Amino acid sequence: MADAVLGGRAAGFSETEAGLRFEVDGEIATITLDRPEKRNAQTFATWSALARIGDNLPEQVRVVVVQGEGPSFSAGIDLRMFTPEGVPGQGSFSSAAAADNDTFDERIARAQQGFTWLRRPEIVSIAAVHGHAIGAGFQLALACDLRIVADDVRFCMKEPALGLVPDLTGTKPLVDLVGTAKAIDICLTARIVGAEEAFRLGLAERVVARTELAQAVQDKIAELLSTNRDAATATKRLLQGARERTLEEQCAAERKEQAARIRALFASG
Ligand code: CAA
Repeated sequence: MADAVLGGRAAGFSETEAGLRFEVDGEIATITLDRPEKRNAQTFATWSALARIGDNLPEQVRVVVVQGEGPSFSAGIDLRMFTPEGVPGQGSFSSAAAADNDTFDERIARAQQGFTWLRRPEIVSIAAVHGHAIGAGFQLALACDLRIVADDVRFCMKEPALGLVPDLTGTKPLVDLVGTAKAIDICLTARIVGAEEAFRLGLAERVVARTELAQAVQDKIAELLSTNRDAATATKRLLQGARERTLEEQCAAERKEQAARIRALFASG
């Protein structure tokens, strides 16, 4: 039964079926959601392919850009999932509803793996977002470390309007970025958040004209690559753990990371 539910064979899907392209150029990897005629709607094949990219990311990569082809970043989950027929080879919500708890949990966990690796300390992930970023599209942008957005961006956490919850790792970064009250407002109304508000709330690091998005991302990549690679990784580790640690624990973590850096840079012989 497992294979019929929530895209069980997804691990074998090709990039074409997944609707994305993956390119590596030295230290920069680019993932392009590439089903513009369907507004880059995502399926379990998309998430499985994302997870596979994370599993096999070349070691030299320091920056991962996630972007969308065509008029939208992503219109979220493929709405065929809501139909009895579902997405060919990937099941439907109707078939998923019959699954046992373990199967369900395992499938969603695998989909989430497509998103979680974007937070790894060894890389910085940048979502270059334009047009609609709805549901799974919004969550994919939230999975990235930084969001550089075009002035036409339209974020929307549509899941509650469809009777679902956001389950693709988006709720934590949303709360971390905007606070619980604003996250409740954004999710439980499923309203559109435009560029100005996204910038004001800290959802976007930078807003630029649509025609300047690619250049703005290139500029940010150049800035990020200008720092020492190992120091960047260690610093990201420190920053990511800072909220969960006490000041004392954080000071200890800083000491440990710095000792490793100084030894790596200055120890002789
Ligand atoms: N799934 C499948 N197909 C989609 C799609 C989606 N999510 N979004 C758009 N498309 C298709 C349309 O059906 C249409 O196909 P045809 O040309 O074959 O008719 C094509 O893409 C273009 O769509 P529009 O004409 O609607 O394009 P637009 O630019 O006028 O509007 C849009 C863009 C506002 C994104 C609109 O398409 C839309 O509202 N899409 C649905 C968004 C949505 O509700 N997504 C689900 C989010 S919830 C989620 O993601 C759940 C989760 O993770 C668990």
